[in-house]
Order: sequence, then structure tokens, then C-alpha cells
Amino acid sequence: MGLQIVRHPVLEDVLAALRDRRTPPDEFRRLARRASLLLIAEATRDLPTAEAEVETPLEVTPARRLESRVVAVPVLRAGLGMLEAFLDIVPSAEVGYYGLERDEQTALARRYYEKLPGDLPEAIVFLLDPMLATGGSAASAIAGLHDRGARAVRLLCIVAAPEGVAHLEKTVPEAEVFTAALDRGLDDRKYIRPGLGDFGDRLFGT
Ligand code: PRP
Ligand code: URA
Repeated sequence: MGLQIVRHPVLEDVLAALRDRRTPPDEFRRLARRASLLLIAEATRDLPTAEAEVETPLEVTPARRLESRVVAVPVLRAGLGMLEAFLDIVPSAEVGYYGLERDEQTALARRYYEKLPGDLPEAIVFLLDPMLATGGSAASAIAGLHDRGARAVRLLCIVAAPEGVAHLEKTVPEAEVFTAALDRGLDDRKYIRPGLGDFGDRLFGT
């Protein structure tokens, strides 16, 4: 499985503020969007383009346009914090949704919602979920996408734990993962340490 830790000084600065327990939800949302922009720019670096022509105010010039279908799939709730940034960068992307929630006692992910565009085999699919902890949620979403025919799936997260990476390597080795940080590991409640706490709660002030 491909794992890319995206390094950028602005991303490190944003990540520090996201980790800070004093950061309130309005600021947390802005930071999540900024971190996502940088991650998405990196994860879309090799999208295929096709030759085209555009007419500038002065003359016709050769150009290149994105040519593949792109699908963004945020995992509810926390992945919503990355969606706006994705659509800023790829406005033509189609959007699907997975609703997944970890049980507070067992940390096992339960899928409660799935809404995906058709024809996934033709698309490059970007799964948006800022936290990769045990990997149960991401593995469930990626397996669901594979069941619907998706071939190229890229997971974009902001903080990952080694346990989650290992779980994806075992269960969905074809997936590619982009993350801003690979943290130390999970605690006994399956929270990422040092992490940033519960992303969904911090994003939505719950
Ligand atoms: C969080 C996060 C991931 C999941 C990661 O969601 O957004 O989806 O936990 O944990 P895992 O790798 O151990 O599966 P959560 O279940 O807290 O739902 P929420 O976003 O609705 O709060
Ligand atoms: N989900 C989160 O939001 N944070 C963690 O640390 C683990 C799972």
C-alpha cells in the first residue's frame, strides 16, 4: 500500500493549531480547510490531463484540461471538514457519502449511510476522512467502494496512526494513503496520541 506523508511548512503550522486544545470550532474549521487544500494539491498531482485549446483575449493557445472523472467521498461527519477544499481544487468532482460511526466502547465502525455516484470503475476516488485510527472506518469505506467497482482509491487524512496504516495494508493493500502526520499510536480508548482529539466533535462543537 502506498503511504505518503505530505511535508509542507504551512501544513505543519496548521497541524500545530489543529492539535491545540484551545482552538475553537470556527477556527478549527478554517484550519481543517487549509490543511485539506495542501493535502489535496499533493494527492491530485498526477491526475491525467488531455490536450486542449483555449482562446486568450489575444490568441489561441494549446492548454491541458483534467480528463478523468474524479469522485470525492467524505466520511460523515469529520470528512465534511475536507469537502469544501476538495471542491475548490476540483470543482467538477462528483460527490458521494459514507456515514460511519465508531462504537464508543468497542471502537468498531458501523456503516449507517452510503450514497455514491455510478460508474466508479471509471473514476479516481478520493476518500476524505481526517482521522485514521484503528483503520476500521477507512477499511469499511474502501471495501464498500471496491464492492461498487472502484479501482483507484486514495484516502486523504490529516492524522494517521501506525495501527490504522497496518490495518489498511492488510485489508485493502491497493489503496493509497496521503496524510499530514503519522502519530505515535493509539491509547486504550483507541484515540490517536498525541492526535488532536475527536475531529468531528471539534469541527462541529459537539
Ligand atoms: C472518526 C473519524 C473516522 C474514525 C476513525 O469518526 O472521523 O471516521 O473515527 O477511527 P477508526 O480508524 O478507528 O475507524 P467517528 O466514528 O468518531 O464519527 P464522527 O465523525 O461522526 O464523530
Ligand atoms: N477519531 C477521532 O476523531 N480521533 C481519534 O483520535 C480517533 C478516532
